Amino acid sequence: MNVRDSEVICGLLQKAGYSISLDDKEADVIIFNTCSVRKHAEDRVWSLIGALKKSKNLRDSSRSGTIPIIGLVGCMAQNYKEKAFERDADVDFVVGPADIDKIPVIIKGLCVQQTKTRGQSPCGDCPRFFERKIWETEGVNRPEEIYHTGFYQDQHHAYVVISEGCSNFCSYCVVPYVRGSLRHRKHKDILTEIQEAINHGITKVTLLGQNINAYQDNQVNFTKLLYQVNALAGLKEFDFFTSHPKDAGVDSFKAIRDLEKLVKRLHLPLQSGSDRILKLMNRGYTVKEYLALIDSYRKIIKGGLLTTDIIVGFPTETDKEFMETCALVKQARFNAAYIFKYSSRPGTEAAKMVDGLKPNELEKRHKKILDLQRGISKELRSR
Ligand code: 5AD
Ligand code: SF4
Repeated sequence: MNVRDSEVICGLLQKAGYSISLDDKEADVIIFNTCSVRKHAEDRVWSLIGALKKSKNLRDSSRSGTIPIIGLVGCMAQNYKEKAFERDADVDFVVGPADIDKIPVIIKGLCVQQTKTRGQSPCGDCPRFFERKIWETEGVNRPEEIYHTGFYQDQHHAYVVISEGCSNFCSYCVVPYVRGSLRHRKHKDILTEIQEAINHGITKVTLLGQNINAYQDNQVNFTKLLYQVNALAGLKEFDFFTSHPKDAGVDSFKAIRDLEKLVKRLHLPLQSGSDRILKLMNRGYTVKEYLALIDSYRKIIKGGLLTTDIIVGFPTETDKEFMETCALVKQARFNAAYIFKYSSRPGTEAAKMVDGLKPNELEKRHKKILDLQRGISKELRSR
């Protein structure tokens, strides 16, 4: 999702006359497009901003004594809002995920303001601007145009957002708070965007949504959309992320089986192998239901790949419940699993739960289940 958002931002800036540089020594504006899903991702951004400011190279460049305009964009921006300026005074603008269309205007605003106060030309040699901080975090809907700038990072593959936000409120997850409630793009707009990508020479597409199976635009549900995408001439291959076990079903499995361009793979986050923890997580399914679902997937798509996400150390998870997750990993035999240590996210329901697990115990559990899954993945690969 963030890779696509970064492309959108690049496309908007390019359209506004800016050029994209991946060299922070050369850039007049540096934008951090951020993730809040775990604390670790946020910590990395703060330390990258710190490192950027300290960077001798930046200060010793031909624009001596200057550092660029710094923008904090995406989920962290939404999380911190104007508090981001307190956390790091060198951040100049803060823009949430639903406001990214405003970035070019904000940058221009910062430059113009600077021209007035310092008599310097905008977008020439932009030294740091201290006088004004701008934040935009009130947006709800993204304008459709942002998805049609024609900027692609990869010339063969494109990410296409089909729905934004999420209304599931899994108790550990910050996404509904920072990306807002679930909104569906119009299926015609999605198909137009894919057609534009095909016209650009792209042959592979990944459809994106936090809870992709819940997609609905009038009469067009997710499965119907898959059929429509498959029918686009010039497209060679496509896949999608992420399915939710409470919404994924036989219809979409049959589509995976029957549509020749659709990759035979399903990413179906499990999160935990304990019914009590699943309930606390507000996931909306039981272990039995999850197992029945993957059984049906495997019966319908012989040899189809199956991957998952797992969280270890959710508050109050006992050793026994952790072992239940390990048992399920053994039973399900995922081709791959992304295994995360639980990270408490402020504002979520789980953040209110008491977490007595010691950090070394969390490490132990994480390592144990990683090793277990690595063995399974390796065995399946070698077959
Ligand atoms: N702590 C750890 N992992 C998390 N995920 C989401 N929120 C958290 C959290 N607070 C994981 C889930 C999700 C994946 C994208 O990130 O496993 O499926
Ligand atoms: Fe977060 Fe749950 Fe929505 Fe996934 S489905 S984005 S884990 S709230």
